[in-house]
Amino acid sequence: MAMNILTLCYLVASVTFIVGLKMLSNPAKARAGNLLAASGMALAIIATIFLYQNEQGQYLGNYTWIFAGIAIGALGGTLAARRVKMTAMPEMVSMFNGMGGLCAALISIVEFDHLQSAAVMATEIGLGYFLPVGTYVIILLGLIIGSVSFSGSMIAWGKLNGKFKDFSFKGQQIVNLIFLALMIALSVYLAFSRLDHAFLFYIIFLLALLYGLLFVFPIGGADMPVVISLLNSFTGVAAACAGFLYDNKVMLTGGILVGAAGTLLTILMCRAMNRSLANVLIGSFGAGKAGASGGGEQGQYKEITLSDAAVVMSYANRVMIVPGYGLAVAQAQHACHELEKLLEAKGVEVVYAIHPVAGRMPGHMNVLLAESDVAYDKLLEMEQANEMFPTTDVVLILGANDVVNPAAKTDPASPIYGMPVLDVEAAKSVIVNKRSMKPGYAGIENELFFYQKTSMLFGDAKKILQELSAEIKSL
Ligand code: TAP
Repeated sequence: MAMNILTLCYLVASVTFIVGLKMLSNPAKARAGNLLAASGMALAIIATIFLYQNEQGQYLGNYTWIFAGIAIGALGGTLAARRVKMTAMPEMVSMFNGMGGLCAALISIVEFDHLQSAAVMATEIGLGYFLPVGTYVIILLGLIIGSVSFSGSMIAWGKLNGKFKDFSFKGQQIVNLIFLALMIALSVYLAFSRLDHAFLFYIIFLLALLYGLLFVFPIGGADMPVVISLLNSFTGVAAACAGFLYDNKVMLTGGILVGAAGTLLTILMCRAMNRSLANVLIGSFGAGKAGASGGGEQGQYKEITLSDAAVVMSYANRVMIVPGYGLAVAQAQHACHELEKLLEAKGVEVVYAIHPVAGRMPGHMNVLLAESDVAYDKLLEMEQANEMFPTTDVVLILGANDVVNPAAKTDPASPIYGMPVLDVEAAKSVIVNKRSMKPGYAGIENELFFYQKTSMLFGDAKKILQELSAEIKSL
């Protein structure tokens, strides 16, 4: 009876994961979707703790340990999530993802230990070794994928918060391939030898951890979100392996969903940058390219005063705001919404052009602007925005750089060549707010800043927006 109710709970939980994931694709429903999937997960966990029975009909027990673990994890997670700044979100995602990978690897270690003990017992009573190959393969897969995801995510976390620098050496790709081949060869040997080789198992564990480090260390900073998404899909697959081991349907469904969603997101991000996954993983884009491409004399740029910018925008028919990473760093989303309301009160149409990889994580700009109550229908996707630029009077770029760089369309030597960008130069005039002439994440110059129709408005995005709003009010 208890197990039937448990199966029903798993079914309900699986449905909440799928519906929740679907709701995440719509900004208006995303919060509710997240909550729904989280409730499904809570149901699955609580039901497992109280309803699961083994073949002898025993319940799990160990409640003190289980609830102590849950309390520590929940407290840590809640504090981290409450304190994190929006700009540090990719780091946190990476850390949490790494923990998921570690859990999957630990499950494999524990289950390997169980198998070994069973095998030893079988020998003692004269039955010889008994190691089911299928189970062994799943254990090894969970161990390798989970460990790679754990160590890789830790490096990604360290690189995003500036603790680790990019690192590579000559022939690194070959060393990586050797590690991979060694892991596979040892795993096959271990799975089919049916001998007691515990030390080999731990060597595979060590190799997988090292492989994760070597795999992520050389990848350039700008490509980290793609790597995090890929590692996220690895964790999903490792969790699905654990679901297989325990014949636990909800773990399997959750793992497969994470694995599939992570893979799709990785592909979508690569497409938005017009690069293949292999190029992202081996190309080291964005690493140490400061001042590269489009460098040399770019000519003169011109500046605009706050009051002139206020006048130009107040008398425009349409102002298109292009938010970028700088807006997020400056936490300028509320000041931006304030400016939008003031302009609209003057009869100006204000919309936002959202590049798919603006900022440092997928959906970064949507989340930020939603936080300050900007209406969802004002957020235009890149294709829509590109159609509207030619009929736009003023484009106001706030801390965006690479995503508005025309070199992506015009300079085949540029590392971002081929990446779809916002065609801001098609508008009548362009105002660029940033603090200096320094390059953005890809480390390359931007010829847009030197165009005739472009004016620079230097300063911190939040401060500039507040001052612009004050100017507009006084007009
Ligand atoms: P960036 O190209 O990084 O440019 C941001 C600009 O903001 C910088 O040039 C910086 O110039 C300015 N800035 C920094 N702090 C500021 C502040 N307080 N006030 C005003 N301006 C400030 O950003 P982007 O255009 O959003 O492009 C995103 C980049 O990340 C792309 O290269 C993209 O490929 C990469 N990337 C993103 C993702 C996702 S999913 N979002 C994934 C992979 C890669 P100053 O220093 O002069 O102020």
